[in-house]
Amino acid sequence: MGMGFKEFIIRSYEGQSDRPQVEDLERRCEVGPAESVFLFTDTMGDPICRIRNSPMFMMLVAELGNELVGVIQGSIKVVTIHSCPPMGLAKVGYVLGLRVVPHHRRKGIGSSLVQRLEEWFISNDVDYAYMATEKDNHASVSLFMDKFGYTKFRTPAILVNPVNHHSFQISSNIEIARLKIEQAESLYRRFMSSTEFFPNDIDNILRNKLSLGTWVAYFKGDSDFGSNGQVPSNWAMLSVWNSGEIFKLRLGKAPFSCLLYTKSWGFIDKIFPCFKLPTLPDFFNPFGFYFMYGVYHEGPFSGKLVRALCQFVHNMASKSKDENCKIIVTEVGGRHKLNNHIPHWKLLSCPEDLWCIKALKNEGTNTLHELTKTPPRIALFVDPREV
Ligand SMILES: CC(C)(COP(=O)(O)OP(=O)(O)OC[C@H]1O[C@@H](n2cnc3c(N)ncnc32)[C@H](O)[C@@H]1OP(=O)(O)O)[C@@H](O)C(=O)NCCC(=O)NCCS
Repeated sequence: MGMGFKEFIIRSYEGQSDRPQVEDLERRCEVGPAESVFLFTDTMGDPICRIRNSPMFMMLVAELGNELVGVIQGSIKVVTIHSCPPMGLAKVGYVLGLRVVPHHRRKGIGSSLVQRLEEWFISNDVDYAYMATEKDNHASVSLFMDKFGYTKFRTPAILVNPVNHHSFQISSNIEIARLKIEQAESLYRRFMSSTEFFPNDIDNILRNKLSLGTWVAYFKGDSDFGSNGQVPSNWAMLSVWNSGEIFKLRLGKAPFSCLLYTKSWGFIDKIFPCFKLPTLPDFFNPFGFYFMYGVYHEGPFSGKLVRALCQFVHNMASKSKDENCKIIVTEVGGRHKLNNHIPHWKLLSCPEDLWCIKALKNEGTNTLHELTKTPPRIALFVDPREV
C-alpha cells in the first residue's frame, strides 16, 4: 500500500476462526453523525446469519497483519426489474454491511472490499449491483456514487412504530384472516410480481422460520377470497418477519463513539441517524422488532384495511411477551399514499432511504437509464432479508 502502510489482504470470512474478531470489529466501528445516543445490536453468535437466508451469499474480510480491519457482505438473487426485457427478471447483487475500523479508514480498504464483492457478482453473472444507505452518510454516499459510479434509484421511507402495552380496537366491520403459505405465495405472484425488486424466490421468504405469517383484511360482507381466484373489491395484505429472532437492538449512551451494529446493517445504517431523541427509556434494554413486508392494497377504501392490518400486527407484537418486540418497522416506496395508512412515529422514522444501483453489464446501462430517470410510479418490494 506504500506510504508506510502495511499491506492488507481481502479474503473470505472463515466462520470458525474469524468470528470473535469480526464481533470485536463491529464493537469498534463508529457509525452515524448523532452525538450521544447509540444503537447497539446484541450479536447472537453468527455474523453471517442474515445473508444465509438468501439464495447465494458471500462475506469478505480485510486483514492487516493479524488484525481484521474491515468486512463486507453480499447476496445474490433474481428479482423483478420493471424495464428489463424479456422476462422483467434480473440478477441483483446486494452490497451489505460494509465496515472499516475507524483508524484504518481512507486507506482504500473499503474500496477494495467493494471491488472484490463486485468481482464476485460479475463472476456470477449479476446484472445490477445495489446498495442502500442513509442519505447523510457522506462517506458511504461518496464511496458508492463518486468512486464506484452507483446512481440514485429510489428513496423509499422507513416507517417505525413503537409497540405499546394497550391493544388497538380493530373496526368491527373488518375481517382479518391468516393465509396459508401457498395462498400467500399465489397472491404475491399474482399481484406483486410486477413491483420493482420483487424476489423471484418469494416462497423461500414465506417459508422461512422468521416469517410469522401473511394476513389479508377485507370488509365484512364483501366477497371472500374464492377458490376460483376472486378477490374482494377492497382488500389489503401484508406479511410479518420476526427480525428479533436473530438480533436484538438496544439504545445506549456511550462515552466514546462506539456502535455495534452487525446483523441489521440496512435498517440501522439508515434509521440510526434518525434517532435524535435524547432519551428513549424503553429502548435501553435489548429489544426485538417486527418487519412488515409485502404490503399491498386494492380498492378505494383499502387504506383503512392497511391500517387495520398494522394495528393487528401491533397487537400481536404487544402480546408476545417473550420476544420483547418494541418496534414495528416497514419500508415503502413508490406509493407514497401508503404512508398515511401505516401508523408510525415521524420522530423514529426515516423519510429518505437512499437506494443506489449500478449496471454491471453493458446491456444494462440503457435499462438503468430508464430505471433511474422515470418517475417512481411502480411500488417497491422490500425484502425482509436485507433489513
Ligand atoms: C464507509 C466506509 C466503509 C469507507 O471505508 P474506507 O476504507 O475509509 O473507504 P476508502 O478508503 O476506500 O474510501 C474510498 C472513497 O470513499 C470516499 N470516502 C470515504 N470516507 C469518506 C468520508 N469520511 N468523507 C467523504 N468521502 C469519503 C472518498 O471518495 C474515498 O476516496 P479517497 O480517500 O480517495 O478520497 C467507512 O467510513 C465506514 O466503515 N463507515 C462506517 C460504516 C458505514 O457507514 N458503512 C456504510 C453503510 S452503507
